[in-house]
Amino acid sequence: MKSVLIINGPNLNLLGKREPLLYGSESFDDFLNRLKKEFPDSQLRSIQTNVEADMVNAIQGAQGEGAEGIVLNPAALSHTSLAVADAVAAISIPVVEVHISNIFARELFRHHSFVSRYAKGVVVGFGLEGYRLALSHLLRS
Ligand code: DQA
Repeated sequence: MKSVLIINGPNLNLLGKREPLLYGSESFDDFLNRLKKEFPDSQLRSIQTNVEADMVNAIQGAQGEGAEGIVLNPAALSHTSLAVADAVAAISIPVVEVHISNIFARELFRHHSFVSRYAKGVVVGFGLEGYRLALSHLLRS
C-alpha cells in the first residue's frame, strides 16, 4: 500500500494549542511534514473536519480519490456517531483508528468508540506516535 488518507475529527485542528498535557505541543501540520519525510515513497494526504457529515463524505470518498487505507481519528465523534461508524463499515479499504490520548484512562464516556468494531485496529494513548504506528502498519500491508 502506498496511498493513505489521514482524517482528523473535531477540534484536532487545535493540536499543539489544545490541552497540551493530553495532546502534546506539536501542530499536526509540523508532524505531518515529518511523517512525509520519513515515508518518502508513500502518498500521504490529510484532512481535518469539525463537521460529522464532512467526515462521512471523506470516508465514503477516500477510495475513489485513490486512498488504499485510512488512518482515522474521529475525535469526539468516536463516542457519538453511528453515521461515522456506518461509513467505516461500508467501505472496503482498511481503516486504523487512532486516539492520541489514552481514552481508557479518561472519563467513562470516552471508553466506548462506535467506530472500533469496524476498524482493522485501534492505536490508543501513544500521542502523535500513534499515527506513525497506524501508518507504518498500512504501508506494510
Ligand atoms: C481523541 C480522544 C477523544 O475522546 C476526544 O474527544 C478527542 C481526541 C484523542 O485523539 O485522544 O477530541 O480522539
